[in-house]
Amino acid sequence: MSLPTLPTLSLSELARRFQWPAPPVARNPGWAAWNTEVDDALILRYLYQNHQPRRHLEFGTWQGFGTCLCLESCAATVWTLNLPDGEAKADGSWAYGHRVTDESSAPAGAVSVNFGQDEAGPRTYHRTDAASYIGRIYREKQLGHRVCQVYCDSRAWDTSAYTADFFDSVLVDGGHSPEVVISDSRKALSVLRPGGLILWHDVCPDPAIIASSTAVQGVMSALESLWPELERQCSALFWIDPSYILLGIKK
Ligand SMILES: C[S@@+](CC[C@H](N)C(=O)[O-])C[C@H]1O[C@@H](n2cnc3c(N)ncnc32)[C@H](O)[C@@H]1O
Repeated sequence: MSLPTLPTLSLSELARRFQWPAPPVARNPGWAAWNTEVDDALILRYLYQNHQPRRHLEFGTWQGFGTCLCLESCAATVWTLNLPDGEAKADGSWAYGHRVTDESSAPAGAVSVNFGQDEAGPRTYHRTDAASYIGRIYREKQLGHRVCQVYCDSRAWDTSAYTADFFDSVLVDGGHSPEVVISDSRKALSVLRPGGLILWHDVCPDPAIIASSTAVQGVMSALESLWPELERQCSALFWIDPSYILLGIKK
């Protein structure tokens, strides 16, 4: 893979460049202890608080954690897409699932499989990116009135109902194969207004991280193919160091 050399800014440098208030002090735990739901979340909240989108688009809802970061940081309505039945790996196994010991904690209608019993109780696994798990966090937080949930393979999403300046910001964080990331990125840019913010998750130029994460490999490979068109369409493109986030501003 011949990766683009990503232009890089720290969050503080980004704040100065955009003349935003100083960002919160972020911990830098190193890649081994990096926790997206803490460390990338802090950055995403800061970006949404300062960009203040009114209409935000998110590829890949999962349980709605990222959607809530936006909903809780500004007044936006969020459009978000997810495969209705969840993502499968190449071998057919679930891409997202977890064991549930307390059935009452799971949303009604969840897709589950039971593999018998062990000392901890029933070995019940729930598919966390399918059916009622999709977006459950924003629903449980009573934020569903600000969400338009779209259930489809994002490659089949019809954008013709949206004007070219419809969205103020987009997060590309759905499927991680190069084909899906390329499709999602092109669709995102086709409905993002000039001056709008486009974000990609699972971006990191560190060779050790690329070698260890198929998600990062897929996104980096997509960026390699897309880079000339991204440079044409964006006035700024920066990997935020350290993070798993690439940021662009549409021309
Ligand atoms: C990394 S998770 C999303 C995390 C979420 N953005 C967040 O911040 O909480 C990726 C999600 O994309 C979904 N997905 C994968 N391929 C997809 C596709 N082709 N179309 C729509 N959704 C897809 C998966 O089912 C999964 O829920």
